Amino acid sequence: MNTLNADYWNNRHQAGDTPWDIKMPSPPITSYIDQLKDKNISILIPGAGHSHEATYLIDHGFENITVCDISEVAIQKMKLQMNNRILINYLNIDFFVLDGTFDLIIEQTFFCAIDPVFRSKYVDKMSTLLKPDGKLVGVLFGIEFPHKGPPFGGHISEYKSLFSPKLHIQTMEICYNSIPQRMGNELFFICKN
Ligand SMILES: C[S@@+](CC[C@H](N)C(=O)[O-])C[C@H]1O[C@@H](n2cnc3c(N)ncnc32)[C@H](O)[C@@H]1O
Repeated sequence: MNTLNADYWNNRHQAGDTPWDIKMPSPPITSYIDQLKDKNISILIPGAGHSHEATYLIDHGFENITVCDISEVAIQKMKLQMNNRILINYLNIDFFVLDGTFDLIIEQTFFCAIDPVFRSKYVDKMSTLLKPDGKLVGVLFGIEFPHKGPPFGGHISEYKSLFSPKLHIQTMEICYNSIPQRMGNELFFICKN
């Protein structure tokens, strides 16, 4: 049974127990966004939470953004925070049953939030959600945490073995531009089908 279900995440969001929130878009991701030229691409942010990356995308002219979160509380808070910006498609749904295909999927502390037994299912699902030339881009924790997750950590070698049967790993390397608290502990990655 997956105990990290909607109730679990609703309780955390309701209680404001969200230590993952860095209160700004993740710099490795904004650097990637900054070099994108086509503002019409379809973008998905799964496990979006506070979704600072969605705000950043909207502020930089991107128009086709879908955010998904299993927590209804997270989605409601997100809508308030964004003043219900109509350009965003808000989905209160489990990522694993999401439909559609996207040009870009952004990973920011979603992978580390799911039980590691579902990691290969995550990779399979990402593969089905990417358009033929689509990219999965974002950051992963490249360390183990001393406590029971979430967050669940891991190592680059493990991630390469996990992702490579389904996705082509274009880049996976330690971020040079993480926030100070995460410096050295994050991997920037780009995967394609
Ligand atoms: C660690 S938080 C990260 C939130 C956000 N990405 C950030 O960095 O602030 C993980 C988020 O994933 C959501 N989540 C967990 N499991 C999910 C699932 N199966 N489908 C969609 N969202 C999920 C949680 O509600 C939570 O908002």
